[in-house]
Amino acid sequence: MNSDVDFYNSLELSLKYAEGLLADAVNNSKSIFHSPTLCISDSPRTVVLREFNKEKRFLRFHTDLRSKKINSINENLVAYVHGYDPEIKVQLRIKGKVKLHKKDEKTLKAWEGSREMSKLCYSVKGAPGQIITDPNEYDLIKSEIDVERGYENFGVIIFEYDEIEFLFLKNIGHRRSKFSWKDHKVVMEWLIP
Ligand SMILES: Cc1cc2nc3c(=O)[nH]c(=O)nc-3n(C[C@H](O)[C@H](O)[C@H](O)COP(=O)(O)O)c2cc1C
Repeated sequence: MNSDVDFYNSLELSLKYAEGLLADAVNNSKSIFHSPTLCISDSPRTVVLREFNKEKRFLRFHTDLRSKKINSINENLVAYVHGYDPEIKVQLRIKGKVKLHKKDEKTLKAWEGSREMSKLCYSVKGAPGQIITDPNEYDLIKSEIDVERGYENFGVIIFEYDEIEFLFLKNIGHRRSKFSWKDHKVVMEWLIP
């Protein structure tokens, strides 16, 4: 069967398309994959995609070191990144491991590359998720804050993946494929949708 998309019956082109979506999403805030869901330890949350490295197979996210997810991060944990774009009818489910960086070269580079508005979030005077009585007390007023102090709370999450599951919905026949990497070699498989 044919479709109007070139990847419909091609595993190679499906992978290329998936990688293209991630590459585009880094600087395209309108892309669904710019703010995918990161699942660590059963708890999902939206995060902003800051970098995609196809060759080294990682995604970069920024986070507050005081948030709950930080306690869940360890080397053995299986994590997922997920997104579905209803316009192109594509779901990506990416499986991998997460590594946390704090106060190292990676965090410094990422911090220096962040905009003032992004830096500001890390200056909230308490941990994300903490129970409070008055939310007004935690609002951020830029003129009263030295944004650079937020670096104390700034963390970088590197999500290294070894599997991408690609699902494309089409009324004449969905297409689902899996790409897994072993020893730097990719195995491409069709799955029943
Ligand atoms: C559009 C959007 C973008 C977000 N971006 C991030 C992000 O880049 N990093 C992050 O840690 N949290 C981000 N959040 C907040 C998280 O979804 C989550 O609420 C927060 O990280 C606390 O999660 P935790 O308590 O499970 O650790 C974003 C939320 C939304 C709605």
